[in-house]
Amino acid sequence: MKETIEQLLNKVRSFTIKSAEELEQFRSEFLSKKGKLNELFDQFKVLPKEQKKEVGQILNILKIEVTEKYEQHRNLFQQETKSLDYNDLTRPSEPIHLGSRHPISIVRKEIISIFQRIGFVISEGPEIEDDWHVFTALNFPLEHPARDMQDTFFIRRNPDILLRTHTSSVQIRIMESQKPPIRIIMPGRVYRNEAISSRAHCFFHQVEGLYIDKKVSFADLKQTLLYFAREMFGIHTQIRLRPSYFPFTEPSAEMDISCNLCGGSGCAFCKYTGWVEILGCGMVDPNVLENCNISSKEYTGFAFGLGIERITNLKYRVNDIRLFSENDIRFLKQFTSAI
Ligand code: DAH
Repeated sequence: MKETIEQLLNKVRSFTIKSAEELEQFRSEFLSKKGKLNELFDQFKVLPKEQKKEVGQILNILKIEVTEKYEQHRNLFQQETKSLDYNDLTRPSEPIHLGSRHPISIVRKEIISIFQRIGFVISEGPEIEDDWHVFTALNFPLEHPARDMQDTFFIRRNPDILLRTHTSSVQIRIMESQKPPIRIIMPGRVYRNEAISSRAHCFFHQVEGLYIDKKVSFADLKQTLLYFAREMFGIHTQIRLRPSYFPFTEPSAEMDISCNLCGGSGCAFCKYTGWVEILGCGMVDPNVLENCNISSKEYTGFAFGLGIERITNLKYRVNDIRLFSENDIRFLKQFTSAI
C-alpha cells in the first residue's frame, strides 16, 4: 500500500492543471466520492495495526497535497471567471458608500456657526500646555484640586507641561496676543485623568467663548447664551442661570436649559426638575485680565465653556459617552448632516 501511495503522490505532483476542465478531472480522480483518496482511506481502515503508523503518515501527506493543489487552482479559475464579469464596460458601477460625519463634528460645526452668526471668530490653541495657561493665569490657587495628578495628565514636572484639562487655556493665549475688542469661539479636545465609564472619559471636547470690550455686562452674557440655546434647541427653550464658582470668572454661573425632552414639565431624563445643565460661564475675573496685560479698569468681558459631548447627548439622546470614541460603524452611520 505504501508504494501505491508514493506512486499517486508523484502523479499528483506532476499533474498539470491549466483549465477548469482539467481541474474537474483532477477533482474526480482524487477527491470525489469514488476517487483515489477515499479508496485508500477505506483500505487503510482494515490495515494491520503495526503498519498503520507508517502508512498513515504518508497517506496524510497525500491528502494535504491533493486538497492544497485543488484549492489553489480553484481560486485561480474562480478569480478568472469573476474578472470576466467586469469585462462589460457598459455595466453600471458598484455604488460608492459615502461616509457620514462624526456626531461630535456635526455638533461642533453647529455650535460654531451659531456663534459666527453674531460676530464670533474661531480660534484654536495647543493641547499640550504649560501650567501658566491652564491654571496660574486663570487665577487657580496653588492648592486647587484641579492641579492635582488625580485630575491632570502631566507630561513633565518642574516646569510643568501637561495636557490641557479645559479650553479656557486658549482664552489666555488669545488675550496675551490680541487687543480688545475680542469676540472669539475656541473649540478643542481636552484631557482629564478620569476612569472611563458611560458618563466620563479621559478625553472629550469643549467649546470656549470669550467676549472682551468696554462695558460688557452680565446682561450681554445672558442674552448671548439665550440666543445660543434657542438656536441649538429650539425657539421655545428657556434658560436659567444658577450661581456657581470658577476661579477665572466673577460672578460665575452654571446655565440650565428647559428640558428639551419634556419641554420643562418634568420627566425621567431631567429627573423631574424640568431643567438640564449645559454650560459654565461668568464675567472674566479682573485678575485674569491683568495677568494678560489687559486693563481691568478699562475693559470687562464674559466667558463661557461647554462640553460638546454633553450637547450631543442632549440633541441625539446618546447615553453612553464611550460610543463617541469606539468608531463602531453601526453607531456612526446613523448620523447625517447637511453641513
Ligand atoms: N473651564 C470650565 C470647565 O472645564 C468651563 C468654564 C466655566 C469655562 C466657566 C468658562 C467659564 O469660560 O466662564 O469646567
